[in-house]
Amino acid sequence: MTARKKRVLTGSRPSGTPHLGNYFGAYKPLIDLQNSFDFFFFLADFHSLNGQDSAAETRQHSYTMLATMLACGLDPTKGLLYAQSAVPEVCELAWIIGCQAPFGMMTRAHSFKDAQSKGVDVNMGVFNYPVLMAADILLYDADVVPVGQDQKQHLEMTRDFAQRFNHRYGQLLVLPEPLISDDVAVVPGTDGEKMSKSKNNTVSIFATDKEWHKQVMSIVTGPAPLADPKDPAICNVFALYKLLASADEIADMATRYKEGGYGYGHAKLALIEKLKQVFGPMRDRYFELSKRPDELRDLVLAGSSRARMMAREKLDKIQAEIGVIGRPF
Ligand code: ADP
Ligand code: TRP
Repeated sequence: MTARKKRVLTGSRPSGTPHLGNYFGAYKPLIDLQNSFDFFFFLADFHSLNGQDSAAETRQHSYTMLATMLACGLDPTKGLLYAQSAVPEVCELAWIIGCQAPFGMMTRAHSFKDAQSKGVDVNMGVFNYPVLMAADILLYDADVVPVGQDQKQHLEMTRDFAQRFNHRYGQLLVLPEPLISDDVAVVPGTDGEKMSKSKNNTVSIFATDKEWHKQVMSIVTGPAPLADPKDPAICNVFALYKLLASADEIADMATRYKEGGYGYGHAKLALIEKLKQVFGPMRDRYFELSKRPDELRDLVLAGSSRARMMAREKLDKIQAEIGVIGRPF
């Protein structure tokens, strides 16, 4: 028997415009593996419902994310591109997994604790977030899940739920490995905090020159005047430049910082040039695709019906083992 090709899976919430944190933490690692792994990429649109976006915003963000992924090089013929909401089986599995999820562990999830500490009304979507995410992963027997550091605990919980399930019912669920690269685990935003769609501190993967300029110019820097030597290791501009530039270019900028006579404004302009160099060639395709929402929808629905067949097959196997009556066919 030939071994099954390894599966790489990740999802992202259509809750804003995709940014460099998403790109380096999740999208690029997935795209890099698309030739050697079976890939699964989905819009986590059910997950985004626990925020405050309007329906129109959620829809718009979904198309923006699809156009971004395709323009970044995701090839839907090599794997599955689908929407979480178009595979309702995920909710069925979430219920089953939820029955293995200890309440105490759920209350220690960072996503829940963060929401609670902000004093917002915590809905069950926030509380159950890790269970739905576990179902996203376990439904497709994913082996590898590229994510940023913020999702590490969710991956640990996923593995824990799967172990509990397997212990009770037999080895039906695959334990996924997170793929978190140290150098991009937490991409800083323009304020130095973790870059996040919810924090208004993002640099977009795709934007007009003017938008990039505005985002980069808003990066918070130290007070040192132009003439002074500066420490690149603690500079937010340098941290982003490092993600995009070659080793020689990085070393060159570090030297300029340390020598003095090189201002944060210079570094920001160099960063804008890098954004244009790295993402510029893909940007036309992004704007082109963004104008064709109907095509994007057709594409994601075609992927979703394939995903749904796989999901149903997996759930039928699970139902057969857990003692429920299940489907009549
Ligand atoms: P956001 O936090 O901006 O709403 P998503 O929930 O859509 O992002 O996250 C999609 C993926 O991008 C996840 O794997 C997440 O860990 C990763 N990610 C988000 N922000 C960052 C960041 N600043 N650095 C590294 N990875 C990130
Ligand atoms: N929770 C992830 C985030 O907020 C998005 C997500 C949902 C996800 N389901 C997933 C990521 C499954 C990887 C695998 O960033």
